[in-house]
Amino acid sequence: MATTPATFSTRPKDPQEDLMTSVAGEDQGTLPELPPEPVMEANKLNVFYGDFHAVHDVDLRFGKNEITALIGPSGCGKSTVLRCLNRMNDLVAGARVEGEVTYHGKNIYDRGVDPIAVRTHIGMVFQKPNPFPKSIFDNIAYGPRVTGMKVDSMDDLVEQALRGAALWDEVKDKLKQSAYGLSGGQQQRLCIARTIATRPDVILMDEPCSALDPIATSRIEDLMMELRSDYTIIIVTHNMQQAARVSDRTAFFTAKADETTGNRTGLLVEFDRTKTLFSNPSDRRTEDYISGRFG
Ligand SMILES: Nc1ncnc2c1ncn2[C@@H]1O[C@H](COP(=O)(O)OP(=O)(O)OP(=O)(O)O)[C@@H](O)[C@H]1O
Ligand SMILES: [Mg+2]
Repeated sequence: MATTPATFSTRPKDPQEDLMTSVAGEDQGTLPELPPEPVMEANKLNVFYGDFHAVHDVDLRFGKNEITALIGPSGCGKSTVLRCLNRMNDLVAGARVEGEVTYHGKNIYDRGVDPIAVRTHIGMVFQKPNPFPKSIFDNIAYGPRVTGMKVDSMDDLVEQALRGAALWDEVKDKLKQSAYGLSGGQQQRLCIARTIATRPDVILMDEPCSALDPIATSRIEDLMMELRSDYTIIIVTHNMQQAARVSDRTAFFTAKADETTGNRTGLLVEFDRTKTLFSNPSDRRTEDYISGRFG
């Protein structure tokens, strides 16, 4: 499973070789070329912030019980694409989405679809752990309460969610204490527990480890691989070794500057099985990026 993570703060001599040796997916050899059972799909996804065209024509498929990593240089639209997948961009003033995002075949942007319901199926974990100013217990119970989930025992649900996020043993004796008393890594696992408490089937994660130390990062990576058997996970990461270690598939994005305006629009360059993308990329831009020649 996950080994002590290395970061790209000091580039390895041969980053590509380093990435290839850290590809984790044991079953990559048998992974079909495209996800056979896509839980979500983006079709001709375009995103604008006012007049600015941030993301151009993205087509992606996210396979059931797979981890998909979105990688690419800063500003290429990874977070923008991720936020489209559970209609989080609805909350961003001036953001406009064109194209389609389907969840089990249904376009989540269709008129009449309730974005709050969408977010209970497709949960999100953010870069910076953001627990509520409440007790550990109430952080977990909050979602089920506000969504009116039918719950036999809230105690059991909270325990299950905390166990699912590998946090139970560390907090079982202080459930009534403030979540702010937890370490950053524990807070991030609490946020994952909070997300799984409403029983989503997709979990979106935007750089969930970037504020964590290597040990906490390693725990989250182990946790992601455990959660994969029950959830579909889509993760944005700047850490290519992390993408190589945890993901089944990787999507590489870049930004292309418009010759007249200079505006940089994000686009998807390559989407493939992680092992293939890191060992034998089909596009020169991917190769340059993963080998450290760009970005
Ligand atoms: N709320 C917003 N209003 C206007 N422009 C935005 C907004 N959010 C993002 N952008 C722009 O959209 C483009 C894509 O941004 P996004 O945050 O999706 O990139 P990213 O790939 O996640 O970058 P990073 O790796 O730095 O997090 C950038 O040019 C950014 O400045
Ligand atoms: Mg981002």
